[in-house]
Amino acid sequence: MAAARPHRWLRWPKNAAPHGRAPRLAYGADYNPEQWPREVWDEDVRLMREAGVNIVSLGVFSWARIQPGEDEWDFAWLDEVMDLLHANGVAVDLATATASPPPWLTALHPEILPVTATGETVWPGARQHWRPTSPVFRSYALRLAEAIARRYADHPALAAWHVSNELGCHNVYDYSDDAAAAFRTWLRARYGGIEELNTAWGTAFWSQSYTGFDQVLPPRLAASHPNPTQQLDFKRFSSDALKEYLRAERDLLQEVTPDVPITTNFMVMGESRGMNYADWAGEVDFVSNDHYVRPGAQALDELSFSANLTGNIAGGRPWFLMEHSTSAVNWQPVNRAKAPGEMARDSLLHVAHGADAVCFFQWRQSAAGAEKYHSAMVPHAGSDSAVFRSVADLGARLTRMAPLAGSRRKPAPVAIVFDWESWWACEQDSHPTSLLRYRQEALDWYSALLARGVRADVVPLGTPLDGYGMAVAPILHLVREETAKELVRYTEAGGHLVTTYFSGVVDENDHAWLGGYPGPLRELLGIRIEEFAPLLPDERVRLDDGSVGTLWSDDLTVTDPQVEVLASYADGPRAGQAAITRRATGAGSAAYVSTRLGSQGLAGVLPRLLERAGVSGELPPQLRGRVEVAVRADDGAEYWFAVNRTAEPVDIADLGGELLDPAGAAEQDGARILPPRGAAVLRRPIS
Ligand code: GLA
Ligand code: GLA
Repeated sequence: MAAARPHRWLRWPKNAAPHGRAPRLAYGADYNPEQWPREVWDEDVRLMREAGVNIVSLGVFSWARIQPGEDEWDFAWLDEVMDLLHANGVAVDLATATASPPPWLTALHPEILPVTATGETVWPGARQHWRPTSPVFRSYALRLAEAIARRYADHPALAAWHVSNELGCHNVYDYSDDAAAAFRTWLRARYGGIEELNTAWGTAFWSQSYTGFDQVLPPRLAASHPNPTQQLDFKRFSSDALKEYLRAERDLLQEVTPDVPITTNFMVMGESRGMNYADWAGEVDFVSNDHYVRPGAQALDELSFSANLTGNIAGGRPWFLMEHSTSAVNWQPVNRAKAPGEMARDSLLHVAHGADAVCFFQWRQSAAGAEKYHSAMVPHAGSDSAVFRSVADLGARLTRMAPLAGSRRKPAPVAIVFDWESWWACEQDSHPTSLLRYRQEALDWYSALLARGVRADVVPLGTPLDGYGMAVAPILHLVREETAKELVRYTEAGGHLVTTYFSGVVDENDHAWLGGYPGPLRELLGIRIEEFAPLLPDERVRLDDGSVGTLWSDDLTVTDPQVEVLASYADGPRAGQAAITRRATGAGSAAYVSTRLGSQGLAGVLPRLLERAGVSGELPPQLRGRVEVAVRADDGAEYWFAVNRTAEPVDIADLGGELLDPAGAAEQDGARILPPRGAAVLRRPIS
């Protein structure tokens, strides 16, 4: 992991709304004025003031407008926009505008276009059609970034730099010749010599031994499953290549404007997995994230999970919600509009997990282009609309919540350990099952904990676990020796570890640990697995505690008399064998769950695990599962966020404290009613 840079937050202009340098939450959107005639800009800033907007991300896709030809520059319009925003108290998170190369550039240099695994060129026509490793692209992009940085270095509206946009959203995996060359350089640095690579990649298999680095390629279309370590290293390399690109823009910006903080918008959401953000977070001055909700029973929990992980990647310090949507998006199979209250609730759930900025894609809904059906702060209908009114309401609410700006996440009693490398490795091809979903398993544990009213921190692997009474490491598939040792130390010191099926199976080179699974965790867990027994899509296995497993089962033997069997298989070929185990270790314990129970099924075993770990919920029993509580704290107070997880009103009077923003809940006769889709913040002074 890269050495973390000191946290540096936005450099607020002196005149920024609401007043000068007072604490505030940032509120705004991506602003794309080049899509609109000049007269609309005046209405834009007027409406921004009305909505309480105090920041915009500007210029994200403006390359073609700023630099219409190799040696042609047009800054006049951007100067005017910057001045106009500043005059209206709106700060600017100014993009380097490098996200989408203009047609003149791709016509001049088609060799910057990415290539797919099957050898097809990714043509211009959309966006992000550039190779992360192209030296030609990089020189043009850095030239643009430098021109922008020099032009606006001293502009009073400038609050932060926004490097590119969602790096890797569409171009993380490039199989071009540039990528091949950079991959070889990366491999040389990792392995030193070709024999070391051969060993790591297990190339004795299928006659794959290399005699020189020049023979090594990205995992392009092959006759059958490409070498798994080659695939895993290509994922590591691809994340690193974009990180290197981020550093190149950052270093340049830092040289021009050492005092201006730098960020880039991550995509900690859903199945977006190409970039190892735990490893990237140390490269920026503050972490930013984009999040879009996908409909489904766990939609709200998934939002919370993503916000939570973002907050922990940011080290518990405030982070910037760079994009989410006011209502529908345009890129899902069916794009549902948000219900009344949903937008504010979603926004505040991000704030609950440490966001000090609530921003949207985008300010004004486009009339043309691929995203014209994507909602915005100002919809097609205009400002006389429910969406705009809810936007203005939210702006007012965030202004009232200003006192919590700068507060940090208060650590939770339980950790869920999240690891990009295990995610990458466990879902590769040619495995016991292709149905396994790493992030879903982690989310199921999170949902089950929320349903018990227990707060959990979703933390990247490597985060010290000592403060956590219990740590769940779902599908910890790729385990280095040091990780195993660290987990042993954690449990001996009193921590309670829980892990699941397909954990401890491979080392960092994706080679199986030998002698029985789960390799280096075998002794700690007191179990030994000789064979995996994945289940067919419609297969179920009953456990004797009443729960039902899907996806996976193990042929598991208990090897240590200390092991307590928490549940056994009740039917199927493994009837009578242990399914969930727990071994006491020193002052702690290590538990193993050998099948997929889902969030509902986990509700059965979780109370037993929590009880043995001595972790109790912080919520009064009648609120457990009905509200999600997340806590931020500063020196003077704790801020308890209560978010309604049900479709009914919930009385949260028992949480105490005082409402930071009266719009959050209705107070009457001693009750404090959180409406459906409601979110409230309770300030509880620290005495
Ligand atoms: C991403 C991009 C934005 C926009 C939104 C749409 O987050 O960064 O430019 O395309 O998606 O949801
Ligand atoms: C990805 C991003 C979304 C959006 C779509 C557009 O899924 O995460 O925000 O930009 O691409 O295709």
